[in-house]
Amino acid sequence: MAFFTHQRRSFSSSALRNVVIKQVTIIGGGQMGTGIAQVAASTGHTVTLVDTNDDILKKAVKRIEGSLKRVVKKKYADKPEAGEEYIQKVLQNVSTSTDAGSAAQVSDLVLESIVENLKIKQDLFCQLDEAAPAHTLFASNTSFLPISDIASATNRLDRFGGLHFFNPVPMMKLVEVIGTPTTSQETFDSLLNFSKALGKTPVCCKDTPGFIVNRLLLPYIKDSVLLHERGHGSKEDIDIAMKLGLGHPMGPFELCDYVGLDIMKSMVDRWLAMEPKPPFAESENLNKLVAEGKLGIKTGEGFYKK
Ligand code: CAA
Ligand code: NAD
Repeated sequence: MAFFTHQRRSFSSSALRNVVIKQVTIIGGGQMGTGIAQVAASTGHTVTLVDTNDDILKKAVKRIEGSLKRVVKKKYADKPEAGEEYIQKVLQNVSTSTDAGSAAQVSDLVLESIVENLKIKQDLFCQLDEAAPAHTLFASNTSFLPISDIASATNRLDRFGGLHFFNPVPMMKLVEVIGTPTTSQETFDSLLNFSKALGKTPVCCKDTPGFIVNRLLLPYIKDSVLLHERGHGSKEDIDIAMKLGLGHPMGPFELCDYVGLDIMKSMVDRWLAMEPKPPFAESENLNKLVAEGKLGIKTGEGFYKK
């Protein structure tokens, strides 16, 4: 695949080979990290899920188990015992740790899915760059931050890319694979092959703001919020209209609550900061809800109460 051929650079010999990804460290046991861990473990990868404390990690494993139960309810409808066996087999592929450095030492890929904050992501990767072996690839699941900016905290610019998954990961088929101008072709190919090994459909993206999906999603979400704020439609009616009129599985307000208003706000803020003439205005409503800790489904209230 020639996506990055024109940008190929010379790197050390350790970098110039495809890495077959088997052992994966996923940092961040929130809604996305758990989903990615589940899918990776289900497809035979050995996964270490890392977060800041054991309580979060216990909840993360419970969430994976809950999601696997939903999967087997359909897949093994007539064979509940085989379903339970499958769940246990998948869970055996997942271990947890609060020590990202140790986990990275034995990983082919370190995939970060922590809070959407550039400095925190950079600090994490800077620390992991010291710990991880030369062949280990790094990737971020950021929604909107430039992968190049995150990678700049490391000395492995050739072995750094983006793997952007969609929520809920076990159900959503797409992965955006993002190459920066310094991502080597071998790294890009390895990330692409890893996405396929997870049973996903990858698309190739350049490191542009929001990649493909969020670049197109955000103006739609913002227009929906502003339409409501102008009094031109209730949240409920706008959601119904987009579901029944366009066949979307969720309306824009439901989707915001599902993704998390903190994530939505950080994407909006980033866009407003980078555009001299942004295509939309700030939303007081969104800012207020986030300030009040009403982040959507994960806190029990966002635009809607659960
Ligand atoms: N794990 C496992 N199975 C799941 C699941 C999960 N987390 N969520 C849903 N399912 C499966 C289950 O089999 C479920 O049946 P049960 O409820 O009996 O277990 C079945 O799907 C149907 O689910 P629901 O009844 O809850 O509702 P649904 O039919 O509407 O499907 C949905 C749920 C797949 C989430 C669907 O509403 C949908 O596609 N919504 C849009 C999601 C979307 O747009 N995501 C992208 C967000 S943007 C993003 O992610 C990028 C970013 O950077 C912010
Ligand atoms: P979340 O709040 O559910 O989970 C984040 C997790 O990271 C938390 O468990 C937190 O304890 C942990 N964490 C924070 N700092 C850490 C650190 N330094 N080391 C280890 N763990 C740390 O968030 P989320 O919704 O899963 O989003 C995670 C990332 O994925 C963000 O970058 C987000 O933009 C991106 N993303 C989110 C969605 C979505 O729909 N929510 C979709 C695609 C991508």
